[in-house]
Amino acid sequence: MVQLALPKNSRVQPGKRHPAPADAARPKEFAIYRWSGEPGEQPRLDTFTVDLADCGPMVLDALIKIKAEIDSTLTFRRSCREGICGSCAMNIDGHNTLACTKAIEDVEGPVKIYPLPHMQVVKDLVVDFSTFWAQYESIQPWLKTYTPAPQKERRQSPAERERLDGLYECILCACCSTSCPSYWWNGDRYLGPAVLLQAYRWLADSRDEATAERLEELEDPFKLYRCHTIMNCTNTCPKGLNPAKAIAEIKKLIVEKHL
Ligand code: SF4
Ligand code: SF4
Ligand code: FES
Repeated sequence: MVQLALPKNSRVQPGKRHPAPADAARPKEFAIYRWSGEPGEQPRLDTFTVDLADCGPMVLDALIKIKAEIDSTLTFRRSCREGICGSCAMNIDGHNTLACTKAIEDVEGPVKIYPLPHMQVVKDLVVDFSTFWAQYESIQPWLKTYTPAPQKERRQSPAERERLDGLYECILCACCSTSCPSYWWNGDRYLGPAVLLQAYRWLADSRDEATAERLEELEDPFKLYRCHTIMNCTNTCPKGLNPAKAIAEIKKLIVEKHL
């Protein structure tokens, strides 16, 4: 499924090979996309052989080991290593996922690691999220209210709170958006599944009082209606969420608004 947005006029070249230590008990190859970020320089695929007998179980463990022991220039994002921050999203074995929750033993043969597809690469596995974050900001991802604040908190019934399940867990890793062909081709104007799931998170919140204006903003041939229900987004989400369903719910709310 890897569809890289490569630097202009470039092809991925065979890169350096780093063999396993002579006494490696469980050698495993990792083929990793490398690009220095320098214009004119070609990207390459470096191969590192790591001894799994001396490495943690997740792909992120191997990346950290490679950076610490073999090539300190290897560049990638990570923070929580618990599947919470969304920083370590990348394409592993042909699927967008989180390196910290992807078990090495689940990959047969060499582990192929690329940046998230169709994003501008900054360096190696790091991509530019500027557009993605601007799109997220555009849906005003905060509680909007117009009635006077009550003395204590704005309350929700357990049933109202339950409507946020499957939405609030999104960690904005962008695995879904960068697996969506509509987002690949119209990523500047289509908001994509991650941001639309977040938009629905606020529409579904019983305390939010801006439903009408939120729907008006979303009712746009590009922002919302580029979703063609291809379902890549839902199939790839490492948190098991269903952005395609959230998008369908937004479309339903817009239809109801016009009845
Ligand atoms: S819906 Fe899933 S894949 Fe998409 S940004 Fe949220 S957590 Fe990541
Ligand atoms: S269901 Fe919609 S958002 Fe999800 S991958 Fe398909 S087109 Fe993209
Ligand atoms: S390091 Fe935070 S989600 Fe992987």
